[in-house]
Amino acid sequence: MTLLSDTDRDLQRPGPGDPTRGNREGPPRGQPSGSGRGRRGRRGETPGGARHPATMCELYSKQETLALRRRHIGPSCKVFFAADPIKIVRAQRQYMFDEKGDQYLDCINNVAHVGHCHPEVVKAAQKQMELLNTNSRFLHDNIVEYAKRLSATLPDRLSVCYFTNSGSEANDLALRLARQFRGHQDVITLDHAYHGHLSSLIEISPYKFQKGKDVKKEFVHVAPAPDTYRGKYREDHEDPASAYADEVKKIIDEAHNSGRKIAAFIAESMQSCGGQIIPPAGYFQKVAEYVRGAGGVFIADEVQVGFGRVGKHFWSFQMFGEDFVPDIVTMGKPMGNGHPMACVVTTEEIAEAFSASGMEYFNTYGGNPVSSAVGLAVLDVIKNEDLQGNATRVGNYLTELLNKQKTKHTLIGDIRGVGLFIGIDLVKDHQQRTPATAEAQHVIYKMKEKRVLLSADGPHRNVLKIKPPMCFTEEDAEFMVEQLDGILTDLEEAIGAETESVISKNTPCRTKMPKEARSELLRDSSLDPRENPSRKRNGLCTDSLLSKRFRT
Ligand SMILES: Cc1ncc(COP(=O)(O)O)c(C=O)c1O
Repeated sequence: MTLLSDTDRDLQRPGPGDPTRGNREGPPRGQPSGSGRGRRGRRGETPGGARHPATMCELYSKQETLALRRRHIGPSCKVFFAADPIKIVRAQRQYMFDEKGDQYLDCINNVAHVGHCHPEVVKAAQKQMELLNTNSRFLHDNIVEYAKRLSATLPDRLSVCYFTNSGSEANDLALRLARQFRGHQDVITLDHAYHGHLSSLIEISPYKFQKGKDVKKEFVHVAPAPDTYRGKYREDHEDPASAYADEVKKIIDEAHNSGRKIAAFIAESMQSCGGQIIPPAGYFQKVAEYVRGAGGVFIADEVQVGFGRVGKHFWSFQMFGEDFVPDIVTMGKPMGNGHPMACVVTTEEIAEAFSASGMEYFNTYGGNPVSSAVGLAVLDVIKNEDLQGNATRVGNYLTELLNKQKTKHTLIGDIRGVGLFIGIDLVKDHQQRTPATAEAQHVIYKMKEKRVLLSADGPHRNVLKIKPPMCFTEEDAEFMVEQLDGILTDLEEAIGAETESVISKNTPCRTKMPKEARSELLRDSSLDPRENPSRKRNGLCTDSLLSKRFRT
């Protein structure tokens, strides 16, 4: 059904000024490629201004697609912007295009890590697909070359790979490895964590099981998320790392007292669905010590945050210091730039224990020659285009711009992040840090109208998540922040949350807040628009807090 006729193929052939021409016309990927706003295509135009014929490659009208989706796709499979979904027909670099050819700046797609449809990745897949694709029971160079290159990005002791097709499969296998290692069963997970959609992972994902009817299983223990902004121990605590780690120790002691044994502690190196949470420096070291002391292993879930997103380091857990090395690392999403591939990397000792069970691990598609070729191409592009350097440069610039916005907008409670992994925590009041959930939803819909794709997540769905393809530019950052500024200005005006001192005389009110949204927002009588402790936190704490969080 998706096969194209020759005519369709002709239509897809790139034209002049067409972004699908890859690097041939523009400057190197990962570098600014012209004036940001000028490049933003008008309806049906490419960034270069040409009309894109590939926008005509739809099978159905948008309404038909929606109707078919309602009929044939399970209702639990949700779409972004459910009230007004977007139909995307193609994408290039950090831009996505709808059926009318309208261009959206993609600020959320950490799967298209090196840029949507990167020509080197596409070429590698096609070349290997033409030659051979089969399972890993045959000897093949791609899988071993990829495992060798992947291991080289990790600390020495993490050298044994198991390839899978999704982050969920990787985490499920990580649990099996952990449980087999010492024969223990119990798992400690963080509050609000999400680790995948398999039954075994819903069980350890409070993000999911707390919303459903499932009750927490007795072998699952939930530790508080090490969130120093709105968690149990905050930035004013003298040692939040120890305080949060002691919570894990308490869980271990209680489990032991009831005769239970800990197999693993699992956490993302930075919580994503949990609300872009960065644990305080030293937390993971202490947790690892307690968990290993109990005979368990430390699983770092890097499915969202791996592959150089944080800039300076290839893996996010490396930010916390060389003295912290997990026992198992899981990875996925960015690994194949959209091609479904994932992996578990562990130590020889854990791998040997798994093998000693006598059960073969076979995964039909995991590590196949095509996936491995894709993985190798992704590693090459990250290096050749200095995408880690770009993540640092653009991430720092974006954070700087956002921090300026924080001094201007009372709705912004906190800006946190590293590299191109940033969260904007929207609050109704700075004292209580009451999550501005409805406002966050309003903002992402308004940003969509401005052709910027953002999402809101976290337990209160009030944290705007930024995790774009790694070729995101400074101009993209400026464009995004400019749109956000306008929307927040209008919103704050609408809810009367602005103070004289923060109103920019030059910022016109572009849109009026819908009546229903306005009355919904005004319902909260606790709002005190004049308070802006964020400035205090901004000025006094943010930098020192960040340096406290990261020692490397
Ligand atoms: C942190 C984390 N781990 C694991 C997964 C599961 O990955 P997948 O959807 O590829 O199964 C996800 C997916 O969103 C995730 O965010």
